[in-house]
Amino acid sequence: MSALDARAAAILRANDLGGYTVPTKGLYPFQWNWDSCLVALGWAQLDEARAFQEIETLFSAQWPDGMVPQIVFHRPDPGYFPGPERWGTGRTPPTSGITQPPVAASCLRRIVEGAADQAQAEARGRALFPKVLASHRWFHTVRDPDDSGLVTTLHPWETGMDNSPAWDEALARVEIAPDLEPYVRKDTTHVEPSMRPTAAEYDRFMTLVQLYRQHGWRHEIATLSPFRVADVATNCILLRADRDLLAFAERFGETGAAAELRDWIRRAEGAFGVFVDPMTGLWHSYDRVVGARTPTATHAGFLAFWAGLGDARLAAALAPWQAGGGRFALASVRPADPRFDGRRYWRGPVWLIANFLIAEGLREQGYGDAAAGIAADSRRLVESAGFFEYFDPLDGAGLGGASFTWTAAMWLAWARFAHAAG
Ligand code: GLC
Repeated sequence: MSALDARAAAILRANDLGGYTVPTKGLYPFQWNWDSCLVALGWAQLDEARAFQEIETLFSAQWPDGMVPQIVFHRPDPGYFPGPERWGTGRTPPTSGITQPPVAASCLRRIVEGAADQAQAEARGRALFPKVLASHRWFHTVRDPDDSGLVTTLHPWETGMDNSPAWDEALARVEIAPDLEPYVRKDTTHVEPSMRPTAAEYDRFMTLVQLYRQHGWRHEIATLSPFRVADVATNCILLRADRDLLAFAERFGETGAAAELRDWIRRAEGAFGVFVDPMTGLWHSYDRVVGARTPTATHAGFLAFWAGLGDARLAAALAPWQAGGGRFALASVRPADPRFDGRRYWRGPVWLIANFLIAEGLREQGYGDAAAGIAADSRRLVESAGFFEYFDPLDGAGLGGASFTWTAAMWLAWARFAHAAG
């Protein structure tokens, strides 16, 4: 183990609160959905049993309808807003009322197939299979009520890319509730406000939470919400997860589930054309309220490779995200875009988890050089700045929370194996 490997392992252990790992102490003191699944990949490098446990703990908070919540509030912490009272979901343990990108099946497959202890992997994979399947079924029904093949996201927080410029227009259309309950943000007490979402965005985030709570978090929110977006990231991640779950269904002889999964995959593949801008070949999210692609394309569109649907034109389009000012791949927003802000969260910074998903997709689809470049940059960022939440693509500065779990996990599971940049 190198010194950096040891530091990454120490971050996972320090953020382990017993069966789940917090993203970072202070800023995010609970269990987050896609963090945990991706962090399990890091745990698998240290302790396979602990990797399975991370995902099992997350699924222990699954809702009866199949939804896996975005946040599980295992124990109270006054340092975070919005906490359980504000969500008012009435669940035990308390959870938020929305979800996050469904990476569980894909992470689980990687862990099971790479496991040294195959007996354990088989048993724990089998036990998780019906739960993960139920979460996919929830997406394909509750979040696709008109059977379109595209699943809908109801809150920017569900995309995991909270303040991405992809949501600017759709979010601006959400009228701030005149009776919005007053609130005090906590995030900006942990991290400099210039690196976090703005007040106008936050008022709208809270308006949506209040609206859904008033509807008791019932499924009708998927049709009545003023914010309904087919997020390109969530849809690509779900399609990939369906394929990975299909591999499990075939391995476990689950023929009924396999047929169901093949049907979801076929419908998604038939529907994804709406994401592609025919002029540029870039993949955008699709705003269901207005029936149009969201104007700003972000790095999320390159998750088409993770879904197995990228092409040479899209691979060629990566260049402006890296060159022309972006010294470290992959900026979340193209540096030449007027909305680019290299320090503000999902409006420009590099995120290692996005780099991992995109680079692995590129590699699998035969774009090995592009994948290697992204991996080398990810390695360089950690080597020079450490295990930050995100990084400035122009100067490589570490930003947001420090000692960040999923950055450490991406190091352990992926970036440390990259060839050092030449
Ligand atoms: C922020 C990120 C989200 C992540 C969470 C915990 O909300 O936008 O993607 O899951 O923090 O790290």
